[in-house]
Amino acid sequence: MPAASLEVDGLCAGYGPIRIMEGVTFSVKAGGRLAVLGRNGMGKTTLLASLMGLTTRHGGRINIGDQDVTGRRTSARADLGLGYVPQTRDIFSSLTVEENLRTGLKGRPAAALAEAYEMFPRLRERRGNYGKQLSGGEQQMLAMARTLLGKPSILLLDEPLEGLAPVICDELMLLLGQLAASNEVTIILVEQQIERALGFADSVMVMERGQISWAGAPAALIADRALVDRLVGVGIH
Ligand SMILES: Nc1ncnc2c1ncn2[C@@H]1O[C@H](COP(=O)(O)OP(=O)(O)O)[C@@H](O)[C@H]1O
Ligand SMILES: [Mg+2]
Repeated sequence: MPAASLEVDGLCAGYGPIRIMEGVTFSVKAGGRLAVLGRNGMGKTTLLASLMGLTTRHGGRINIGDQDVTGRRTSARADLGLGYVPQTRDIFSSLTVEENLRTGLKGRPAAALAEAYEMFPRLRERRGNYGKQLSGGEQQMLAMARTLLGKPSILLLDEPLEGLAPVICDELMLLLGQLAASNEVTIILVEQQIERALGFADSVMVMERGQISWAGAPAALIADRALVDRLVGVGIH
């Protein structure tokens, strides 16, 4: 599937009757790279989960390309091209790397596994190891590789760098940069490592208490530490 645009209009969502997100409106062009920043508990994960249809929607609309997916189930959204790598990674700990990857094939032939191993050579070395035997970085690679095997047109990544060593973060960001440069997928990156996220993105939004409190170009935040401090509260690090 080629990269798709995403359009979100007035999205209100939460968990059952609990409302977390209020009136979230933004769009990402096909092939775009959006970074979503914000302190803990501000609604970043809820936003991605809502895009996947995993929360309770109280209002608003979501379009993938020219398809209105607002009322569609999670599986239909995945079929239409949304790929989600959750913050919890959700790999199967008692399946091997290769078995985990197979679950991401979505009907593609097993030969496609080579794509994952090409992108993440470390997974090839570890193909017979169980999910629970992997390091945090390897688990993240596996979670990403499994989702990418489904050829998503929009990739949602929730704090992929969380808890990983700087050298692994470098490696993953390099890969994400290559992926973005291929123009085959639109990427929405939720990340607390602000500097890395700003270096990657072509647009940024900041979430505060379930709403977008700031949106603009990465350069505006890179140039204004005081603004970053105010919005995200931790400064560039
Ligand atoms: N399953 C849930 N049920 C009820 N409230 C939740 C649930 N998950 C998250 N929340 C609440 O939603 C708010 C946003 O959380 P979250 O989207 O995880 O923030 P972030 O990813 O920015 O840290 C928080 O107040 C959190 O407590
Ligand atoms: Mg989160």
